[in-house]
Amino acid sequence: MANKRLVTVIGATGAQGGAVVQSLIQTGKYQIRGLTRDAKSEKALSVAKLSDQVEMATCDINKREDLERAFKDSWAVYALTNFSIQPEVEIQQGKLMADVTDSLKIPYLIFSTLENVDKLSNGQLNVPHFTQKALIRDYIKEKHPNLKVIYVQSAFYMQNWQNRSKPQKLPDGTIVFASPLDQKATLHIGDADDTGPIVREILENPEKLVGQDICICSEEICFEDISKVFTKVTGIPSISKTLTEEEFRGTTSFLPKLIQDDLFYMYKWFEQYGCFGKHKDWTTGKQLTHLNTFEDWLKKTGWKGQ
Ligand SMILES: NC(=O)c1ccc[n+]([C@@H]2O[C@H](COP(=O)([O-])OP(=O)(O)OC[C@H]3O[C@@H](n4cnc5c(N)ncnc54)[C@H](OP(=O)(O)O)[C@@H]3O)[C@@H](O)[C@H]2O)c1
Repeated sequence: MANKRLVTVIGATGAQGGAVVQSLIQTGKYQIRGLTRDAKSEKALSVAKLSDQVEMATCDINKREDLERAFKDSWAVYALTNFSIQPEVEIQQGKLMADVTDSLKIPYLIFSTLENVDKLSNGQLNVPHFTQKALIRDYIKEKHPNLKVIYVQSAFYMQNWQNRSKPQKLPDGTIVFASPLDQKATLHIGDADDTGPIVREILENPEKLVGQDICICSEEICFEDISKVFTKVTGIPSISKTLTEEEFRGTTSFLPKLIQDDLFYMYKWFEQYGCFGKHKDWTTGKQLTHLNTFEDWLKKTGWKGQ
């Protein structure tokens, strides 16, 4: 283990980082340092138990000294930030990650980003959890031009339907995918677990991909086809329902207004520009490795809509 390259993974107990840890273990090539706010938590201990290639370390990504300790001796860092309604919090996390990576002369940083919705929509749409990540990327490019960074961009996770965008079940058993999206709107979607294979492929030959954006997106699919694919795979009747803004705000009334706005305008961004903007090649991840389509994911998980 001592001779293996060390890859440090932020968010190792979460969706993206957890998938990265799993895939890197399978290669048998790396020592993996997974970061969490509490290395003794049940979640963290269950990740540590996966393999003796994994060590879990406590690190608060808001603190420079924690990042310095956690990133030390890494060959590569997988970095993501957490959305905060205070923009400066998320932006500061990302800046710190890049500053520390550069100051410790870590060879590669893989940074999870998204697009600048404000700029690309000419100020028409405000989706801070996207734009904040893009502003971090601008900062990295400007302040750390020599840092070797590969950017990944996750599409809308299919897993969102299992938690934050859970469909309703009607009394007759029909599953209702409800979003403020036109039936013909194109959704870019991806299996969050595919973050793992993508990072594994990037690390096979990082030099080739330095400076590039890799989209973790398996397909673009019309909103109306989500329910059709669901029914085809599961045999359960299903519809895609377009919510008005008022209906959407009703279903998300438990969230602070700022977050409701962020999510509502995210759907409008998807409708008008797609997840990655009009001009980006969303197939870059698919060109590196197999990524699960919605059909693959339904078969893999056996998810029945609840
Ligand atoms: N949902 C989507 O469709 C989607 C699509 C693209 C991008 N994203 C972005 O993905 C990001 C979240 O990634 P995810 O979905 O992988 O996360 P997640 O499953 O929500 O888990 C969050 C992870 O971050 C860790 N964490 C939280 N606060 C931390 C702190 N202060 N210091 C250190 N670690 C901390 C948590 O670890 P502990 O709890 O163990 O401390 C956990 O591992 C967000 O920025 C979101 O905007 C989401």
